[in-house]
Amino acid sequence: MKKFMEIMAEELSSAFEKAGYAPEYGRVTVSNRPDLCEFQCNGAMAGAKAYKKAPFMIAEDVVANLGGSSVFSKVEVVKPGFINLNVKGEFLASYLKEMGEDPKFSVNEAENPKTVIIDYGGPNVAKPLHVGHLRSAIIGESIKRIGRYVGDRVIGDVHLGDWGLQMGLIITELKHRKPELVYFDDSYQGEYPSEAPFTIGELEEIYPCASAKSKEDEEYRNEALEATHLLQQGKPGYTALWNHIMQVSVTDLKRNYDNLNVSFDLWKKESDAQPYIPDMVQAMKDQGYAYEDQGALVVDVKEETDTKEIPPCMLLKSDGASLYTTTDLATIVERMKLYHPDEILYVVDKRQELHFIQVFRCARKTGLVEKDTKLSFLGFGTMNGKDGKPFKTREGGVMRLETLIADINEEMYRKIVENRSVRDKDAEETAKIVGLSAIKYGDLSNQATKDYVFDIDRFTSFEGNTGPYILYTIVRIKSILNRYREEGGTMEDAQLLAPVNDSEKNLMLELTKFGSTVENAYEEKAPHKICAYIYEVSNAFNSFYHETRILGEENAAQKKSFLSLLELTRNILETAIDLLGFSAPERM
Ligand code: ARG
Repeated sequence: MKKFMEIMAEELSSAFEKAGYAPEYGRVTVSNRPDLCEFQCNGAMAGAKAYKKAPFMIAEDVVANLGGSSVFSKVEVVKPGFINLNVKGEFLASYLKEMGEDPKFSVNEAENPKTVIIDYGGPNVAKPLHVGHLRSAIIGESIKRIGRYVGDRVIGDVHLGDWGLQMGLIITELKHRKPELVYFDDSYQGEYPSEAPFTIGELEEIYPCASAKSKEDEEYRNEALEATHLLQQGKPGYTALWNHIMQVSVTDLKRNYDNLNVSFDLWKKESDAQPYIPDMVQAMKDQGYAYEDQGALVVDVKEETDTKEIPPCMLLKSDGASLYTTTDLATIVERMKLYHPDEILYVVDKRQELHFIQVFRCARKTGLVEKDTKLSFLGFGTMNGKDGKPFKTREGGVMRLETLIADINEEMYRKIVENRSVRDKDAEETAKIVGLSAIKYGDLSNQATKDYVFDIDRFTSFEGNTGPYILYTIVRIKSILNRYREEGGTMEDAQLLAPVNDSEKNLMLELTKFGSTVENAYEEKAPHKICAYIYEVSNAFNSFYHETRILGEENAAQKKSFLSLLELTRNILETAIDLLGFSAPERM
């Protein structure tokens, strides 16, 4: 289905052509003088030079060919040569009717769908999810949903961190606490127990304790490094422990992501790439890319045009241990082999940018990916507290994600029962749904690359550019539609008619932008554009609602027209918030 703007541009282009000018000048944009017109075409201005003619004259020629247009209600040339345009209400209504019947509301599915792997979430086993993991989960989930809506095959991979020093630290701490466990008995030959020797609660206490010790105690740290290394070499007792850690931890992670309405197709881990490392490293050596530097194995990735120093990509440490870089490279090998993606997108903290520059360059240079395989990095900014520093608990510690969500839900609950009609039983459930919108919209409405301030008061407000405001608008629409049905109203023979007032027209014009907004948000990996869009739609709807008697309308056909517009608005808003990864309750 054509975009609304395209149809207008086609009208203009053909008028330019008929008047003897190049059709490319027929571009139409939203008016920058909304007091004068809805849209404008500046093509005559642009053409003046090429045709050595006054823009005003060109514009007059063009406009002479727009008479009788079914699209425009007003076509006006203003000095020095702008063409001001207003759209016909009937045309607008018929466009929206078609849009409402289109399953994707004018989003055109990709003709050649691409396979895209999105690497997001990136939690680390045995470390509780904290606020630092929130953005990757929220942004990645949204881009995944948008990509699917647009028709790509999108695969979300959580890429668990399960292979680093944290594992060695946990094993070391366990060994200190319970040296009698069979996992530490090198002569043990039997089967290892199926039950983990710790709970998730204990695990979450063990890691920070071990991490703190390793920072003070060099010997302890070396022990942990050694344990990590032995694990990576496949030592049976450590592998068994690792399996326990994984099992306990992944169950807990899944529960947490469920609460965020975030889900992954793949629960792959850093360690899954391990088997690919030896061959990959060997090939890089054989091809002459990898060389030894002070005992370590590295690949140069600097380029002539670099303005800052890009250090070599390190493949193996002098003790032969692999690194974060090695795992990421081997994961690329695995992904190419198993999924052959057209693109791999990493949604990771922007402080890891250098790491990804190195990995991407190395992968390209050594031929791990094909020429047209895209490797992209969406580096997001930091979530700060009101003090402008990275978000912390009141005591200054790292805030667990669960705590943050609980705090938001509590505040939401308070606000909901405060101005509330719904029974209390529902209020808690509703608070969770609305709370999630507060968190997600609060995050996604900012450009991903920028830092933002996490402000519970603002995010949970029903007014302003917030998730709860959007949901409030949707719920308002639903309740009008419900009331109409409760009063026995039907939508039989409902027809969307031309708008009756400016606010209705404005709402209709906003709705036409859905398709281009979603396509553009995907192209630019920019969910914030969808947020900005639904905020405009919500504002337009609320103005219309305040200025128009909807259920009080006496003409039945007109009333049904209003209600069809409400249905379309609700459908579009609900589709859009689903792309952002949250939903609306029935009541609030
Ligand atoms: N686990 C990593 C961290 O906490 C993030 C992983 C991001 N993805 C990747 N392929 N490196 O920093």
